[in-house]
Amino acid sequence: MNRLKKAVNIFSKLSPFEVIDTAIILGSGLASENFPFIKIEKVIKFNEIPYLKNSTVKGHNSEFIFGKFKDKNIVIQSGRLHLYENFSLFEIGLPIAIYGEKKTKNLIITNAAGGINVELEAGDIMMIEDHINLQGVNILTEYQPSFIDMTNAYSTTHFEILRKEFNLKKGVYIGVRGPSYETPAEIKAFKILGADAVGMSTVQEVILANYYKINVIGLSMITNKASGMQKALSHTEVIETGKKSKEKLYAIIERVLDLL
Ligand code: HPA
Repeated sequence: MNRLKKAVNIFSKLSPFEVIDTAIILGSGLASENFPFIKIEKVIKFNEIPYLKNSTVKGHNSEFIFGKFKDKNIVIQSGRLHLYENFSLFEIGLPIAIYGEKKTKNLIITNAAGGINVELEAGDIMMIEDHINLQGVNILTEYQPSFIDMTNAYSTTHFEILRKEFNLKKGVYIGVRGPSYETPAEIKAFKILGADAVGMSTVQEVILANYYKINVIGLSMITNKASGMQKALSHTEVIETGKKSKEKLYAIIERVLDLL
């Protein structure tokens, strides 16, 4: 039995749901003990799934939280694995591949990001309309060499409603490898390339989600202004801003679940 099949089998055994309607990935500092938008039924750790490991990063919980939103089956993935932790592409993509194999319809993917566009302030939330993959790898080399279309990699269908209700912003996310933050020169270059926000995750997961034809809604929590646009950056600041602003993110997620 191949690794993916094995992982999907165990996930299916542990999951209280036969089908999952929406998976939600919560990034750095965006997890919580309680999620006001779902009724929790079961929690499992990443490492209960074969080949999946727990994250090594502070602020990442490494849990799948299964719960109901109205009559919909939801799984919240609290934490994720990153390239900068030296996890393989297989490990980074495994949760997405599981959702894909389980025919999950929607993925709400969140991250913490630095604001490059001057209009983005710490605490703002940006809907991702497109990305630039600057991680030097592509996850489909690991999963399925395949020339998939990435023209509409992210859905922005509900942006107008969310903009009016939550002052949501919209922009392009550039994914880097990390773990060092960027230099001011890199941020200037990214701006010229067309990026509005920068982070160290998301792009590989979204490529794989598109391979599986999962509808992707991307939300970046702007935790700081990017390098060179404020005083020096610290991981503690990123986590703290995430914690302070996550109630707003949860409210947006709840509204998105309502709209889907
Ligand atoms: N750069 C990269 N990743 C990040 C940042 C940043 O400024 N803030 C939060 N994640």
